Amino acid sequence: MGQVITITSGKGGVGKSTAAANISTAIAEADKKVVAIDFDIGLRNLDMILGLENRIVYDSIDVMEGRVRLNQALINDKRVKSLFFLPASQTRDKSVLESKKVEALIGELKRSFEYVIIDSPAGIESGFEHAVYLADIALIVTTPEVSAVRDADRVIGIIDAKSKKAKEGGEVVKKLIINRIKPDMIKKGQMLSPEDVLQILAIDLIGLVPDDELVVVATNTGEVVIRNPKSESGGAYRRIAKRILGEEVAFASLETSKGIGGFIKGLFK
Ligand SMILES: Nc1ncnc2c1ncn2[C@@H]1O[C@H](COP(=O)(O)OP(=O)(O)OP(=O)(O)O)[C@@H](O)[C@H]1O
Ligand SMILES: [Mg+2]
Repeated sequence: MGQVITITSGKGGVGKSTAAANISTAIAEADKKVVAIDFDIGLRNLDMILGLENRIVYDSIDVMEGRVRLNQALINDKRVKSLFFLPASQTRDKSVLESKKVEALIGELKRSFEYVIIDSPAGIESGFEHAVYLADIALIVTTPEVSAVRDADRVIGIIDAKSKKAKEGGEVVKKLIINRIKPDMIKKGQMLSPEDVLQILAIDLIGLVPDDELVVVATNTGEVVIRNPKSESGGAYRRIAKRILGEEVAFASLETSKGIGGFIKGLFK
């Protein structure tokens, strides 16, 4: 049975879909069978970041409502054979997701894929709840801004309250991605440092991703940023994928960040 990894956040626009696209691709490139699912009903954009928007015919709601079979809606990435994508519906009705149907769909995907990666919508409404309900692992994305960190803190609590695992006496594994880090601002004391964020949220870190304009270039050209060898954020997403696959990839020491250049250089190792 495959593992369900939900990529979520409290605040919107912190980089969930970008992380979902890059991590899904990087895991698939390691020859694992991966499906990325967009749960952002009405506002889908994982398709664009994956460069697959022109290939959408059916979506997850068509599958859940029995109009088409799963195989008809799944899109196979031509560049990475083991990567599949299931689009979100563009319907305006966000209440269209029903727990039983979502569970049946995810159950079917878990039987055929090693990793089921769910891109969650922002906020804590129904789409978010469906996206975290069946998670084995939740990757919580935040930027180093006070408002985003505060919202991440709320979401961490809600994941445990709402997940099926927790209701059955288990626990969702929760890992933190700190995105859009600007070393210069940290150095000047103008931005929360990674250890500031970790101290507040007190969950395990799985990735530090720098602010990187190549992310925007990649999205605009329909390529994921991990394909750009010059991109530091691409390297960071690849390391996150390795950690998910169980590889030990060391982080730079976070203890000495107070304006020490060596730390700043090593930050994204
Ligand atoms: N590391 C980064 N460096 C620079 N820009 C980034 C980075 N990560 C994400 N972005 C940009 O931030 C914006 C929001 O990213 P994205 O759509 O992935 O966020 P999201 O959390 O999925 O948003 P939403 O909550 O609306 O679903 C995009 O324009 C994206 O290109
Ligand atoms: Mg998104």
